[in-house]
Amino acid sequence: MARYKQGLAFRYIQNTKYYRDRPWRDDLGSIPATRRFKNYPEAERLQLPEPDLSRPANLWQCLAKRRSERDYTTNPLSLEELSKLMWAAQGVTARAGIHLLRTAPSAGALYPFETYLYIDRVEEVTQGLYHFNVADFSLECLQDGSFNQLITRACFGQPVVRRAAVVFIWTAMMLRCMVKYRDRAMRYIPMDLGHVCQNVQLASTAMGLGSCPIGAFYDDDINELLGVDGEEETVLYLITVGNL
Ligand SMILES: Cc1cc2nc3c(=O)[nH]c(=O)nc-3n(C[C@H](O)[C@H](O)[C@H](O)COP(=O)(O)O)c2cc1C
Repeated sequence: MARYKQGLAFRYIQNTKYYRDRPWRDDLGSIPATRRFKNYPEAERLQLPEPDLSRPANLWQCLAKRRSERDYTTNPLSLEELSKLMWAAQGVTARAGIHLLRTAPSAGALYPFETYLYIDRVEEVTQGLYHFNVADFSLECLQDGSFNQLITRACFGQPVVRRAAVVFIWTAMMLRCMVKYRDRAMRYIPMDLGHVCQNVQLASTAMGLGSCPIGAFYDDDINELLGVDGEEETVLYLITVGNL
């Protein structure tokens, strides 16, 4: 047997296939409404301005121009730019029953992830670590101060992280998806986040900003920074954004 067939990745895909003659899912129950997204009620809140979506961008041009950019200037982002990036990532665009539907699709409308931001340089915003509150379109300040060195070191010292004005950090909320899809959930969570990340890249391109997805990091260094357990909630993906 080829060696790769003994590996985790191969066995995972094989063991999470759907078959016509087997039940396609096995709900373990439902998630209480309060656990559909996290919030930090004690944190100081920064209300993001409503994004101005009136200025059109050419989708075809954005797709053609999108690139992973790693060299940013030290210029800060504006609050309006940050608000548009956040809206592109996870803005609520409709309601369907208890679901807050967003700019990016998600299997079962579960949105099994949380968005954190390290803000290094955004006009009018204190440097620090924030959590995005989906329902309020606000940022909850978890810790103020510079975490540039810590995050860069956690990302294998990549200069693109050090140069970023903002770093989006996404965690996977395992149980939120596993309750419905059991082990197949770990196919869906990265798919969901791929859509979200692409939205941020396209929005960055539309505004003339640079961005770069980041998949190389020491997971538990980031988990520790965010104060999450690395099991039920664990970091999965990052993207840097900065001025070109
Ligand atoms: C899942 C994923 C992880 C990535 N991780 C990194 C990374 O850690 N560092 C980096 O510089 N680029 C990273 N990239 C960017 C890729 O290197 C880039 O997308 C690829 O070279 C193609 O270039 P393009 O995005 O400009 O088309 C990642 C991209 C994806 C989709």
